[in-house]
Amino acid sequence: MAATPRSMPTAFIFLLCITTAAVGFDVPSLTFSEGFSHLFGNDNLIRSADGRSARLSLNRYSGSGFISSDLYDHGFFSASIKLPSDYTAGVVVAFYTSNGDIHPWTHDELDFEFLGNVREKDWRIQTNVFGNGSNTRGREERYLVPFDPTQEAHRYSILWTPDTIIFYIDDIPIREVVRTDDMGGEFPAKPMSVYATIWDGSAWATSYGRIKIDYKYEPYVAHFSDLALVGCRVDPIQQVDSADRCAEAVEELMSADYAILTPMKRAAMRRFRERYMIYSFCYDQHRYGNVTFPDCDYVSSERTRFGEWGDNKIPPKEVRGSKRRSLKTSAVEDVRPPE
Ligand SMILES: *[C@@H]1O[C@H](CO)[C@@H](O)[C@H](O)[C@H]1NC(C)=O
Ligand SMILES: *[C@@H]1O[C@H](CO)[C@@H](O)[C@H](O)[C@H]1NC(C)=O
Repeated sequence: MAATPRSMPTAFIFLLCITTAAVGFDVPSLTFSEGFSHLFGNDNLIRSADGRSARLSLNRYSGSGFISSDLYDHGFFSASIKLPSDYTAGVVVAFYTSNGDIHPWTHDELDFEFLGNVREKDWRIQTNVFGNGSNTRGREERYLVPFDPTQEAHRYSILWTPDTIIFYIDDIPIREVVRTDDMGGEFPAKPMSVYATIWDGSAWATSYGRIKIDYKYEPYVAHFSDLALVGCRVDPIQQVDSADRCAEAVEELMSADYAILTPMKRAAMRRFRERYMIYSFCYDQHRYGNVTFPDCDYVSSERTRFGEWGDNKIPPKEVRGSKRRSLKTSAVEDVRPPE
């Protein structure tokens, strides 16, 4: 297991904070070995010489991934990511949190998933929230992006507090999930690890799995840098109840600037969603029937547009089935190292 910065002298941590504050947010970035461990894919994971970035590649033999060395009892997790360019249908790059290996039946998960596309079509970005094993009720949203994510790195961040989840692209909040009592256990509450992976998602990623990966274009390479893990660390082996010990860290988290949505940030979020959101589970009656999710902020203009969003055409039944099956296991099982 990699060394953790818990034992670092405070002065050094302070220095780290002021010298490597991540763009937009005042968070320290870590070197790979301070926060992460190799997860799978052997040589397909390559760290830079200074340890501040990592290259994840996917070829016909394997994808690759890394995982935080500790679990986190709430936190702010962030990385700058540059996605593979050109033909990327079937390729999935993911930056997410999960505890699926510890709680296989009641897992929690927060996802950024980047879905590749055929040449000259845009990548799409998906966010998802699972709480306490609610596998059959993925809370997915998908968006186009206002920039080309393959040209330069952009920062993707996930804030998770006991009250709220906020997904950020650069310093723009794009999604907020506020915990309501009605959500009950479906709001993620157990400590999670942070993952970064690249894998073959041919079964569902592009046009509902109709367009597959083409290994003629291998390797597919994603670059990760500005790695940041803020939150209360929980040792994966000695998983004692962390709530008391973490109370102070959680309070700090909840008063950080990225946890507070000012009216200006809220307006930016609304603008982003109006322009770029192409799918939301909230309106998906084909999949969920006529249910009302307690965490959905139903907006009548969104509901009206729902049928017009190109991404929401009803796919053939068998394709939807396989998409759902692999979604269930995607982030949880596909990232496990091969035996
Ligand atoms: C999580 O799910 C398990 C199994 O379904 C259930 O026993 C437990 O009460 C749930 N936890 C919460 C916080 O809802
Ligand atoms: C959905 O259910 C609500 C009440 O639960 C009902 O008023 C509404 O008409 C239903 N909509 C559809 C499309 O069935």
